[in-house]
Amino acid sequence: MGNRVQGKVAIITGGASGIGRACAHRLAEEGAVVVVTDIQDEAGATVAAEIHAAGGSAEYLHHDVTSEDEWVSVAAAVSASHGGLDVLVNNAGIGLGASILEMTLADWQRQQAINLDGVFLGLKHCIPLMRDSGGGSIINMSSIAGLKGNARLAAYNATKGGVRLLTKGVALECAQNRWKVRVNSVHPGIIETPIWKTVMPESLTSDGQPLVLDEMASVAVPTGELGQPTDIANGVLFLASDDSSYMTGSELVIDAGVSA
Ligand SMILES: NC(=O)c1ccc[n+]([C@@H]2O[C@H](COP(=O)([O-])OP(=O)(O)OC[C@H]3O[C@@H](n4cnc5c(N)ncnc54)[C@H](O)[C@@H]3O)[C@@H](O)[C@H]2O)c1
Repeated sequence: MGNRVQGKVAIITGGASGIGRACAHRLAEEGAVVVVTDIQDEAGATVAAEIHAAGGSAEYLHHDVTSEDEWVSVAAAVSASHGGLDVLVNNAGIGLGASILEMTLADWQRQQAINLDGVFLGLKHCIPLMRDSGGGSIINMSSIAGLKGNARLAAYNATKGGVRLLTKGVALECAQNRWKVRVNSVHPGIIETPIWKTVMPESLTSDGQPLVLDEMASVAVPTGELGQPTDIANGVLFLASDDSSYMTGSELVIDAGVSA
């Protein structure tokens, strides 16, 4: 256990799985009081229990990031229990791979609602809490798909590009108002999590077998390595900590060179 975010209160959305789960563990290991939120209640409660078992501090709250009412409830619960908020990791997201000609409007809107509306609502309802408790750090999970386009991922590109510039605009508003709230985006590359089941559902290798993620990484990633959720959590920890106190409106790319 370290103390890089000792005593900071942190909300992590989509904390039941993958990158969010790793962020919850990493921040708790470094002393944060972690509030894991998700719609997967059993898995989310398990993450909080794992953190407790390891000697950390965590709780789980049910929270659909597309619901403004639920954001209001989560912010109120954190304010009542902890008296303020220091860190928000807007991580919840889905990835729907499909031709733009085949994607339904319902899927387009669902992905926008989770990946972009969810971040907007988090900013809207958590910045006042942070501002009024002395400032804080918001980390918005974008992607390298928010930096450049991909065929059959255009709708996902649109959400993650939106997160990138939403981050910068809000960072400047916070700065201009001297709210002491920093806002940065993180851009993961190819990270081993369940999201890939829907990002590339139709992918087959040349012999007709389902695409294996580490084989894809061996071709697409300059170092040949598939990323792990902890690789992203380490960057999130840095942005959450005071080590990054002069950073706002920045993009932290963690992709082993894919976008280089
Ligand atoms: N894995 C990658 O390679 C990769 C790369 C770039 C960016 N990302 C981004 O990282 C973030 C985390 O993804 P992951 O790879 O860990 O995937 P994941 O599927 O393991 O985790 C996503 C989590 O978000 C939750 N979620 C989905 N809809 C929700 C909603 N409406 N409200 C609250 N929670 C909801 C899911 O239940 C799940 O626990 C996403 O924003 C994703 O776009 C992932």
